[in-house]
Parts: sequence; structure tokens; C-alpha cells
Amino acid sequence: MFYLLYVSSAVKLMDNDELLKLHQVSQKNNKRSEITGMLLYQEGNFMQIIEGNKERVLELFSKVTMDKHHKDIYKIMSGSIEKRNFNDWSMGFCNMNETGHNLNYDAFIQENIRLRTFEHDSQSAYDFIIKFNETNR
Ligand SMILES: Cc1cc2nc3c(=O)[nH]c(=O)nc-3n(C[C@H](O)[C@H](O)[C@H](O)COP(=O)(O)O)c2cc1C
Repeated sequence: MFYLLYVSSAVKLMDNDELLKLHQVSQKNNKRSEITGMLLYQEGNFMQIIEGNKERVLELFSKVTMDKHHKDIYKIMSGSIEKRNFNDWSMGFCNMNETGHNLNYDAFIQENIRLRTFEHDSQSAYDFIIKFNETNR
């Protein structure tokens, strides 16, 4: 099992319809290739973790990298894992601009954390998205 975590920036702010469409396409494709993960969006920035078979994860990442809807794609970390962390989701999604209802999210808002700043602290990025998923189930 392999995972990859990255951040990127949308070329323009995405509205709810665009985000919904992106989420639906991702869920459909990822289910087919047995990829799981989580996509976060916050004021024009994305953070996504994808996990599954190594070749398929790398294949998806290279496809996503070529998507013209975002830019400044920065791979934070990748590597082997024993088992999936995002079993429940072919692709979980959260628009962080909307009000959250969990502890981790509140801390995120209070500390004014920005997704892009995670590119300078890979361990925090990984811990954040794992914890985010746990508190959001
Ligand atoms: C931030 C971001 C994350 C994406 N994540 C996924 C994903 O997890 N799975 C996926 O299939 N496509 C994802 N996409 C969309 C792909 O780049 C591509 O548009 C899509 O897979 C094409 O689907 P199609 O071949 O069914 O038309 C993402 C795009 C962006 C901008």
C-alpha cells in the first residue's frame, strides 16, 4: 500500500458546483481503481492525500498534476503504509470555508492555519489530514 500527499492552488476560486463535480468524478474514478483518500479545499488551495496500489497512486497523481484547474503542485510526502487510513472514502471531501463541527477544524480556524503552509512542515501536514479524517467520520 502506498500514499501520496500534496498541496496545490486553484487557478481561480472554485464555487460549490465545481467542487461538487470534482468530488463526484474523483469518487467514481477512485472507486474503480481502489484508491481512497481525502481532498481538502480552503480559499483557493487544495490538500489531498491519495492511497492505494503504488502504480495506481502514481498514475493518478500524474493525471492530477496535468489538470489545468490548479497549479503550484507541491508533493509533501509519499511512501509505503501497512494499511489504508481512509478506508471509508474513495475520496472524502471537505470545503474548509464552510463551518466545521469538529475539534480539529476549530483548532484549524483558531490557529488560522493555511493549507499551503503545510508544504514547509510535512509531518504536521500528514498528522493534520489523518486527524482530520478521524474526527470527521
Ligand atoms: C485538486 C484536484 C484533485 C483531484 N483529485 C482527483 C482524484 O482523486 N481522482 C480523480 O479521478 N480525479 C481527480 N481530479 C481530476 C483529474 O485531474 C481529472 O480531471 C479527472 O480524473 C478526469 O476524469 P475523467 O477521465 O473521468 O474525465 C482532481 C483534480 C484536482 C484539480
